[in-house]
Amino acid sequence: MDRVRFRGFHFHIGTGIVNVGAYQKALLALVPVIQHANRKGLRIEIMDVGGGLASPTSREMTSFEMLRYFAFGVMPVHSLSQKNQQFEGYARSISQGITEVFNGLPLPELIFEPGRCIASPNQLLLLKVHQRKERQGTRTWLITDGGIGTVTMPTYYECHEVLVCNDVHRKISEVVTIAGPGCFAADAVYHNKHMPVVAPGEVLAIMDSGAYFTSWESSFGFPRPAIAGVKQGVHRLLRSRETFGQMVVRDHATYLDKTEDSYLKVNQKNFTS
Ligand SMILES: Cc1ncc(COP(=O)(O)O)c(C=O)c1O
Repeated sequence: MDRVRFRGFHFHIGTGIVNVGAYQKALLALVPVIQHANRKGLRIEIMDVGGGLASPTSREMTSFEMLRYFAFGVMPVHSLSQKNQQFEGYARSISQGITEVFNGLPLPELIFEPGRCIASPNQLLLLKVHQRKERQGTRTWLITDGGIGTVTMPTYYECHEVLVCNDVHRKISEVVTIAGPGCFAADAVYHNKHMPVVAPGEVLAIMDSGAYFTSWESSFGFPRPAIAGVKQGVHRLLRSRETFGQMVVRDHATYLDKTEDSYLKVNQKNFTS
């Protein structure tokens, strides 16, 4: 331990936490370790309680829902009216835990890392429906320009509301699979989702996609999309759409033959503009 400078403790108890009492419980579970540190003369300057507080509007599927979804294609019901957000209870649980644990001792600096509960509701992902594919008596697909292979990785295990942008109140009347553009069957946003009838050309909004969607993107076959910020009705580009040049920029052309090499150089301008 000579070369380690002890500052305090950190834990992260998981994600999608709805029961805020879990933070207080986790802090109390640390009591024996903290007592041990005290006996060793280590001063606890920092206590980091990690992240994990659930997003107010989206949620992870439960293990049972996942099993049913992947085995039988039953999409869990999810509604926007869900209210997971409990900032007040979250703060109370942590402060009560800290006060109990450090009863009479100097209080440490408190660090917390809530991620999804802040980021998730602040972004939505727009997907254009390019095609409706109907196979009589079996299934209807909406083919869009994004799926888990490119931009919606969290929809693999999380429930998000999907709205039709130009008509959010359109009545739900059918069950569809919302598919991505990839050449593999798993590239879906959702299987068997209850939706209104959506026509090609319309745009879907995958709600509350601010957490983990962007950081998990891939440019597998398609460029990553632009991101626009909107404030009081005014929009601003926050990130440009990826260009082909940016998709291949880390590839070295050394092994290409001369024709391909000069082709890349000549077109580099076009790819990156
Ligand atoms: C150490 C740590 N802190 C914070 C977070 C953020 O979690 P969340 O986005 O669920 O709040 C994570 C996510 O895995 C994590 O591993």
